[in-house]
Amino acid sequence: MPVFFKEWGYRAYLALKKGIVMAPQPRPAMFVGRDAAINLCESIAHMGLKKILIVTDKPLMEIGIPQHAIARLNVRGVSTVVYDGVKPDPTVGVVDAGLEILKAEACDGVLAIGGGSSIDAAKVMAIAVANGLTAMECVGLKKGKEPALPLFAVPTTAGTGSEVTLAAVISDDETHEKLVVADPKVIPAAAALDPEIMRGLPAHITAATGMDALTHAVESYINTWDTPECLQYGRSATRLVLNNLERACANGDDMGARESMAIASYYAGLAFTTCLVGYVHAVSHQLGGHYSMPHGLANAMVLPHVLELLKDTAGERLAELAVYCELGDESEPQADLVRKFIDRIWALNEAIGIPRTTDVIKDEHVDEIVKAALKEGAGYPVPRFLERDECTALVQGLRSAA
Ligand SMILES: NC(=O)c1ccc[n+]([C@@H]2O[C@H](COP(=O)([O-])OP(=O)(O)OC[C@H]3O[C@@H](n4cnc5c(N)ncnc54)[C@H](O)[C@@H]3O)[C@@H](O)[C@H]2O)c1
Ligand SMILES: [Fe+2]
Repeated sequence: MPVFFKEWGYRAYLALKKGIVMAPQPRPAMFVGRDAAINLCESIAHMGLKKILIVTDKPLMEIGIPQHAIARLNVRGVSTVVYDGVKPDPTVGVVDAGLEILKAEACDGVLAIGGGSSIDAAKVMAIAVANGLTAMECVGLKKGKEPALPLFAVPTTAGTGSEVTLAAVISDDETHEKLVVADPKVIPAAAALDPEIMRGLPAHITAATGMDALTHAVESYINTWDTPECLQYGRSATRLVLNNLERACANGDDMGARESMAIASYYAGLAFTTCLVGYVHAVSHQLGGHYSMPHGLANAMVLPHVLELLKDTAGERLAELAVYCELGDESEPQADLVRKFIDRIWALNEAIGIPRTTDVIKDEHVDEIVKAALKEGAGYPVPRFLERDECTALVQGLRSAA
C-alpha cells in the first residue's frame, strides 16, 4: 500500500485519485501491425532525438527482440544505450540502476521494449530523470512537476496495457510491497503494437498475460466510476480476449490472434487507466509480492473467484458482457447470463492451462494477504466492499491444501 495512503484520509485520497484518473488523459500515438515497431523507430528519428536508452530484459536480448529496433534507430542516426537489467516485477533498485545510466549517458529519450515490467521501469526512469527524483520519490500520485523525458513503448506481451496507462508498478527491494507511480506524465508519447514481436512468446506467458488484459477489462467494466468510452473499451477488450486468447496460446504463429490480443490489451488499458481495477488485482498484488507469482497468472486464478462473490452486485454489468460476447441472449434472465459469463472464464482458464489452486500460499500468510488485499481494494471504485470472511475464504480457496 502506497505510503501516501497512510498519511491522507481515505475520502481525500479517493477524491484526489478520482480527479486525476477521470480527467482527460493524453493518448500515445499508436503504430499497429507488422513493422509497427520499425515504424515507431522511424518516428523517433523524425522527432530529432539523438540518444535513446533502450529499457528491456536479458531474456529478450538473448532472443534478439530489441535488436531490430536498435538497428533501425542506429541506421537513422539515433544512437542507443541498452539497459537490460529489468526483471519481472521490477524493484526500486532495478529502476534506480537504469536511472543512473540514463543520467550518465545524457539520453534524450527512453524506449521500452518488453513486457509490463520493462515498460513500467522505463516510465519511472523517464519521469524521475526529468524531475531530479529517485524511483522511490516518484511513488504516489503525480509526484513529477516537469514532463517526463520523451518515452516510447513496444510491448512484447499482450496483457498489461502499460503502453497507454498512467500507472507504473514497481516494488520495494526488501518487502516486495507493490508501489504505484500514478501520473498522466508517464503515458508514453507513442507505442507500437507489433504482433510479430509476440510470435515467440511462450504459451504459458501468453495465457497469463492475456488473462491480465481480461481482468483489466472486466474489473474496470463493473466498477462504479465509469464513462461511456471506458465501458466501450472494456466490452471490446473482453470480447477480443474471449475470441482470441485460446487461439494465440494454441498457435503462437497465428498473427491474427496475436494482433487481436495486442489490441485487446491496449483497449483494456484505456478502460482501466480511467475506471481502475478491483479486488482481483488487490489479491493478486499480494501473491506477487509474497511469492513472486507472475501478475497475469495470479489475476487469472483470482478473477473467477471474485466474480462469484460480486455476481449479484455487479449482475447487470456481467450480464451485459455475456450478451456482448454472444454467450447468451438479452431475453434470458440476468442470473443465467451472469452464470454463463463466469463459467466461460472458468472454462477459458481450464483451456489455457491456468491451475485452479496453488501450493505457494502459506497458511501463516493468509491473514496478512487478506488484510492487505482489503486495504488495497478499498482504494478502488469496486461494486461493493468485501467482508473479511469472504476474502479469507477466497484466499483459502486458492490453496492446494485447502
Ligand atoms: N502499468 C500498468 O498499467 C500495469 C498494468 C498491469 C500490470 N503491470 C505490471 O507489469 C508487470 C508484468 O508485466 P508482463 O506480464 O508483461 O510480464 P514481464 O514484463 O514481467 O515479462 C514476463 C516474462 O516474459 C518474457 N517475455 C516478454 N515478452 C516476451 C516475448 N515476446 N517472447 C519471449 N519472452 C517474453 C520476459 O523476458 C519475462 O521473463 C508487473 O510488474 C505488473 O505489476 C503494470
Ligand atoms: Fe494487471
